[in-house]
Amino acid sequence: MENISVIGAGVMGHGIAQVFAMNNFNVFLVDINEEILRKAIEQIQWSLKKFSEKKIIKEEEINSIISRIKILTNIEGAAKNSDFIIEAVPEKMDLKKQIFKILDEKSPKHAILATNTSSLSITEISEVTKRPEKVIGMHFFNPPQLMKLVEIIKGKYTNEETIKKTIEICEKIGKKPILVKKDVRGFIVNRMLHQFLNEAFWTVYRKEAIIEEIDSIVKYVAKFPMGAFELADYIGLDIVLNVSEILEKAYGLRAKVCPIIKNYVEKGKLGRKTGIGFYDWSKGRPEIGLITNSKYDIIRAYAIIVNEAAYLIYEDVSNPRDIDIAMKLGAGWPEGPCEIADRIGIDIIHNKLQEMYEKYKEEIYNPCKLLKEYINNGRLGKKSGKGFYEYKEITN
Ligand code: NAI
Repeated sequence: MENISVIGAGVMGHGIAQVFAMNNFNVFLVDINEEILRKAIEQIQWSLKKFSEKKIIKEEEINSIISRIKILTNIEGAAKNSDFIIEAVPEKMDLKKQIFKILDEKSPKHAILATNTSSLSITEISEVTKRPEKVIGMHFFNPPQLMKLVEIIKGKYTNEETIKKTIEICEKIGKKPILVKKDVRGFIVNRMLHQFLNEAFWTVYRKEAIIEEIDSIVKYVAKFPMGAFELADYIGLDIVLNVSEILEKAYGLRAKVCPIIKNYVEKGKLGRKTGIGFYDWSKGRPEIGLITNSKYDIIRAYAIIVNEAAYLIYEDVSNPRDIDIAMKLGAGWPEGPCEIADRIGIDIIHNKLQEMYEKYKEEIYNPCKLLKEYINNGRLGKKSGKGFYEYKEITN
């Protein structure tokens, strides 16, 4: 496979095209007009310059990398010469279906058609083509030039050959592919991340803690790269709400959206991009102070993320190792949720969920059956030698 196409040269598409060109692929980059494509190339040039300043590539390589990217405004021209195509147009089902129909008609029979969608159904997109077995999700993280993780999503019809080739192509461009075995909403990273954010929102909504103390504990005790509210602001509260609603639709009461987020969005307080959200961003990134006398219990947040990981395993969407790698690479967490569970104790996590479930009577806290099964089988984590993982030495 040498020729690839990227459809859509926006935030994600131009970065994906760059990564492929940096790894010796010939790339067709397609968008609706020359102006957008010219800007995309400028951004790629800027990024390559940064890479050369950091000695990741040689300065003299920049021109040859750029020369491997051909810009086009007609999809057909790109599709007919491609072995692998990645669609990165806006997140609208109708548009994606329209594009996939054309790609299916115009590309060679052997070509794999991948979508970078964050939230739409791969299966539904694949159904407009005559080759649903060759349609797959390929979810890059922003910015694709720097983020190593790619979630590979198996649609209902995706075959093993397509998965194998997509994994191979990811490895060829230096990425870490993680297979999502079912076409579930939020895949792994967004599903985990949004449950974590949602629990923080509910805690503040119920006035059990304030924003600053949760963020302080998340950042300085759990050592996550950003506080929950800081991260939500950074992503954009409209996007957080949109994804949360998709997850609520998919998972029901287990992902019940907290009203606090709707309130902010209705007031136009969307976080970093509007200068105000949970924090004031008008003078740059907010300072998250160290609060030492907080009563906020980090085990609450841990319990929620471990529960979600347990659901992903229970539903056979993923496995502990892949979930942990995905959260470390995709969200920058210092430990994955399964590692956290084994360190703290699966019984402790389960008790915390049970306690919160009885207190709030909300499905968000209902412990996944897998946790109880583990406990019944003596799989409590490191302290029993076995939990999500197995340990040679038993440590308390
Ligand atoms: P964007 O809006 O920055 O870029 C989309 C590009 O597609 C635009 O340049 C637009 O002109 C072009 N386009 C629209 N219709 C087209 C057509 N018919 N033919 C060719 N090009 C067309 O969007 P962004 O953020 O790059 O997102 C693209 C996809 O990637 C979406 O599915 C999104 O959910 C997903 N995604 C986005 C991430 C992000 O952080 N922005 C992260 C991971 C996935």
